[in-house]
Amino acid sequence: MRSLLADRLKTVKPSPSMAAKIRVDSLRAAGKKIIDFTIGEPDFPTAAHIVQGGVEAIMRGQNKYTSSNGIPALRQAIAGKLERENQLSFKAEDIVVCAGAKHVIFNAFAATLNEGDEVVIPAPYWVSYPDMVAINGGVPVIATGNSQNALKLSPATLEAAISEKTRWVVLNTPNNPSGAVYNRQEMEALCAVLLRHPDVWLLTDEIYEHFVYGAAKHVSPLNVAPTLASRTLIVNGVSKAYAMTGWRIGYGAGPAPLIKAISTLISQSTSCCSAAGQVAAVVALNGPQDCVKEAADLFFGRRDRMVQILQSIPGIECGVPDGAFYVFPCVDGLMGKTTPQGKVLSSDIDVMMYFLEAANVATIDGTSYGLSPYLRMSFATSIEQIEEGCRAIHDAVRALA
Ligand SMILES: Cc1ncc(COP(=O)(O)O)c(C=O)c1O
Repeated sequence: MRSLLADRLKTVKPSPSMAAKIRVDSLRAAGKKIIDFTIGEPDFPTAAHIVQGGVEAIMRGQNKYTSSNGIPALRQAIAGKLERENQLSFKAEDIVVCAGAKHVIFNAFAATLNEGDEVVIPAPYWVSYPDMVAINGGVPVIATGNSQNALKLSPATLEAAISEKTRWVVLNTPNNPSGAVYNRQEMEALCAVLLRHPDVWLLTDEIYEHFVYGAAKHVSPLNVAPTLASRTLIVNGVSKAYAMTGWRIGYGAGPAPLIKAISTLISQSTSCCSAAGQVAAVVALNGPQDCVKEAADLFFGRRDRMVQILQSIPGIECGVPDGAFYVFPCVDGLMGKTTPQGKVLSSDIDVMMYFLEAANVATIDGTSYGLSPYLRMSFATSIEQIEEGCRAIHDAVRALA
């Protein structure tokens, strides 16, 4: 019988973070108390004034289709934000609003990739990039980051990954899953490579920009290489900064022809984003920013606590992430150890499953993020959960032979 599914779906996997959520939910449904370090979203609600903005929009009757590229007030608010926070100048016409940053990235690939076009993706990477490239006929080319430099991509590795077929390079700072943040010098060096390849476009995913800790500062590539603007798409959104993941509002800013093509795709697929969500995003971007600072301060303290406990566990090597809300410890030191049930740990997937079964702690294997043997652990959860979960992991490690 003819296969139901299109060929282009053959290599596409469901998102590993969604798979982890299903594992946690089913264990919880079976009555187990699981500490969940797989969470990819803030654990607190959207600020009240933003919710209020959305509710008022609904009550006012802003419940109709909007223009495909987003309501003018939101595109204006995004232009204002890019100017104020990133010192980048964009016209409202050069901005498109999508159903989350994820949707911007998907649409950008759908709008530009032809069969066989390559997209350079630094590893470790956010799980969705390679699959979104593959769905759209492209070929993900993985460029592994430097383990001597917080798993950041080196200019030489980037240069080596670029070929005649390269259409895009994806940069993600602060990074999910490593938490790495490229400093100005590192960004300049990567941009210098891009400047040598005038046919290559840059997709810069800055969704975690507000979550940087200590002396770390977010640097957008266009801050150090403004001439790249003619072939750069900035991707961002309100999901993480304003705890608005479920509102599904993200945006892209870039050259008009690309933005127009993305708007056309939207007009022929989702039509537009939720009208009330767009109004709430205007309130988020134009309103008081204390909620963002408070969230960043909260994550900073949680990061330190999680790192501190993990660093005391033999066999787990945990660097200090400068941004986002994840740690990405290396578990190479646990390879070859034997569990009390007699299983030899031979991959990060084994370690993840062992921690889930022996410690009731859910993590995600680094393999899913293109680099092993690592685990991704989110600190978007309470200090109490962080302490309890990391101690349970410590006990589980002690039980290994
Ligand atoms: C690096 C990165 N980019 C984009 C997204 C998607 O964000 P949104 O909720 O705006 O689609 C995520 C969400 O986990 C992410 O980690």
